[in-house]
Amino acid sequence: MVLHAAAAALDWAMDKSLVLGYTKIGPAVRRAWWPHDPVPGALVGRHVLVTGASGGLGLATARGLAHLGAVVHITGRDASRLDDARTRLLEEQPLAEVTAHVADVSDLAATAEFARRFVAEVPRLHAVVHNAGVMPPRRTVTPEGHELTLATHVLGPHVLTYGLRASLAGGRVVLVTSGGAYGQRLDVDDWEYASGDYSGVTAYARTKRMQLVLTELWARDLASDDIRVHSMHPGWADTPGVTDSLPRFAALTGPLLRDADAGADTAVWLTATADAIGTGGFWHDRRRRATHYAPVGVETPEQVERLWELVREATGVPAAGA
Ligand SMILES: NC(=O)c1ccc[n+]([C@@H]2O[C@H](COP(=O)([O-])OP(=O)(O)OC[C@H]3O[C@@H](n4cnc5c(N)ncnc54)[C@H](OP(=O)(O)O)[C@@H]3O)[C@@H](O)[C@H]2O)c1
Repeated sequence: MVLHAAAAALDWAMDKSLVLGYTKIGPAVRRAWWPHDPVPGALVGRHVLVTGASGGLGLATARGLAHLGAVVHITGRDASRLDDARTRLLEEQPLAEVTAHVADVSDLAATAEFARRFVAEVPRLHAVVHNAGVMPPRRTVTPEGHELTLATHVLGPHVLTYGLRASLAGGRVVLVTSGGAYGQRLDVDDWEYASGDYSGVTAYARTKRMQLVLTELWARDLASDDIRVHSMHPGWADTPGVTDSLPRFAALTGPLLRDADAGADTAVWLTATADAIGTGGFWHDRRRRATHYAPVGVETPEQVERLWELVREATGVPAAGA
């Protein structure tokens, strides 16, 4: 994907300005040069799983994938919210195939069990989109003893990816991360955020940084099964997550926020495109992006390996020697 130099420069400047790139201005301008849409029907007959799809970007991702013909599986913690989401998708697209699964990705044992049942039901999965996300106002520990953003954004997705590995061969993994990761370096010394004053925004951004590193680790490890792994960030989208967790930010940026479909666009595109996009990339508005901007330092190879060790120790997968 070679961009004309002027378009590439404008795209980069928009990204650095944040407001021009992350709001609805981003896709409105970038649409002029971004890669073409996946062909209609690109996903007919293919199963895809989207976590945290009872609302916000997950629901929009499910909508976009169903529009391309996918058999869509959606998850969330609340049965009635999930049921409403499924009903909404079917009202919009009566021929869509949508199955709802109550599954809390922050519960590692339940996630491993969910993956086991899912693989038995769906032996070939085209893609999993790890979208579920939280920004708790205070430090919250799961019954299994993990800080909630770590469990939801890192540990649970890891358990789910490896639980689905056999059915994902030849398929794709997409991690929905955040531009907030740019503000945090990789922290492997206190990854459970056990010390210091807890801030939900910081915990969120730290674990979003971990997701960027995990994308590269998964891409490396899963290449032997021809599973391609990418992360993306949606920009700033108008979702319950933003209005509930960041009300002042939402009030300030309100008219400029992109809608959920525009926020989900790159996740849908990464799942469905036939373009040669390789593996291990970080994307926004259908373009590969840098994972670091100064002044936040790049993690060392030792820190990266330490994260891999920590994740494997905490989850037990992939097992040593696997
Ligand atoms: N909106 C933005 O501008 C923005 C910007 C950057 C990144 N993101 C990322 O985009 C993703 C979606 O964000 P959003 O704004 O759409 O958030 P949202 O409106 O709060 O939606 C989050 C979804 O995740 C589900 N969920 C939360 N915890 C879960 C768990 N443990 N297991 C399963 N599902 C769970 C929620 O459903 P239940 O509560 O019913 O389980 C809900 O469907 C997140 O990863 C977020 O970090 C969003």
